[in-house]
Amino acid sequence: MVDQKATDVHWHYGAVQRSDRERLKGHRGFTIWFTGLSAAGKSTLAVATEKALFERGYHTYILDGDNIRHGLNKNLGFSPEDRNENIRRIGEVAKLFTDCGIINLTAFISPYHKDRNAARDLNRSGDFIEVFVDCPIEICEQRDPNDSYKKARAGIIKEFTGISAPYETPVNPEIHLYTDKMQVNECVQVIINYLVEHNHIS
Ligand SMILES: Nc1ncnc2c1ncn2[C@@H]1O[C@H](COP(=O)(O)OP(=O)(O)OP(=O)(O)O)[C@@H](O)[C@H]1O
Ligand SMILES: [Mg+2]
Repeated sequence: MVDQKATDVHWHYGAVQRSDRERLKGHRGFTIWFTGLSAAGKSTLAVATEKALFERGYHTYILDGDNIRHGLNKNLGFSPEDRNENIRRIGEVAKLFTDCGIINLTAFISPYHKDRNAARDLNRSGDFIEVFVDCPIEICEQRDPNDSYKKARAGIIKEFTGISAPYETPVNPEIHLYTDKMQVNECVQVIINYLVEHNHIS
């Protein structure tokens, strides 16, 4: 939790509400929060799921860890405090996208329970769908698309999740995907089925 620093600030209500924006678009806004080790497949699945949703006529947007660290979060590193602030900001941004009536997909390792739960707690029940992108670290290390594990093992990258920093496994995610056993299209289908079954999309 971050304390409110400025005290003399007041909420200013708009004339157009989230429900109005959702009616205009013809669908709801919500967050699909991918979490998992590096190379588990968060970005790959966010991209494939966004494509599937977009092709069905849904307004979507991806917030991807590496991309956001080029801009909004370029002043943050990988210490526990910076990881906490990274996820806090993304939780707030995701909430804004949901308020816009957009289906937003976030692809961040987000290793700590506390930070994921804080992002969840910003939302109404049902507006935050946690997707555990589960893959054994040995497989992630074999995939190593950006040579990050190699660099972490060599000590070139410090505080690397799974090697020199912790990953706290989700306890009760809405969706649990095993990317070492399932193809990308199967994973996307599981997500789409969940969204239909829970009336997020029709
Ligand atoms: N079922 C699957 N789902 C997702 N990715 C898969 C799957 N099977 C194999 N892969 C491969 O695993 C790699 C995952 O890389 P990706 O960049 O998506 O990981 P990431 O979780 O976003 O990692 P990082 O945290 O470093 O950004 C890709 O090369 C992808 O093709
Ligand atoms: Mg990624």
